[in-house]
Amino acid sequence: MRCLNTKFSPFFKILRSILHVITTSIKFFMPLLPILRFPDSRLKKIATPVENIDDNIRRLARDMAETMYEAPGIGLAATQVNVHKCVIVIDASEARNELLVLINPQLVECDGVQVCEEGCLSVPGIYDKVERAEHVVVRFLDLESNEQVVEAEGLLAVCIQHEMDHLQGKVFVDHLSQLKQTRIKAKLAKQARITA
Ligand code: NI
Repeated sequence: MRCLNTKFSPFFKILRSILHVITTSIKFFMPLLPILRFPDSRLKKIATPVENIDDNIRRLARDMAETMYEAPGIGLAATQVNVHKCVIVIDASEARNELLVLINPQLVECDGVQVCEEGCLSVPGIYDKVERAEHVVVRFLDLESNEQVVEAEGLLAVCIQHEMDHLQGKVFVDHLSQLKQTRIKAKLAKQARITA
């Protein structure tokens, strides 16, 4: 998931430019994964649970986290990098230092309603409002195969639901009207022609 924040101060913009220069220069050393773009049919695949949390899964999670931070995004599901296993990375913190790796996440509880402007690394440049639960409780496995529970509300809850949707083959635009979906596909097709 990508977060649209229009309230950046000039100071933050400068800081962001400096950070961009730094991250661009170290990009060469980072194993970034290519992200599938909507409406790629592989985004519709349903992910299977991870049976054994081994070094391959740990490497996948690390590469996904680096790809998410570099994008930059606040969440990434394995589906988006064409690995159809139930692995999610999230960091919805402002300081970008609260990485969450959720393996085989299961929704235990959800309640309330919130509407948030969402974006997605697989749907570049598109943002729209989606209705989600305000509060969620999710059970998952960590990288050491320990069962954990995360309780979230607000942006983190939105992000968890958005990424869990990806594992079910759903993109946030699937929550929008058919008319909006058609417009988004046309806009992305046009972008792809320009950048091709
Ligand atoms: Ni997404």
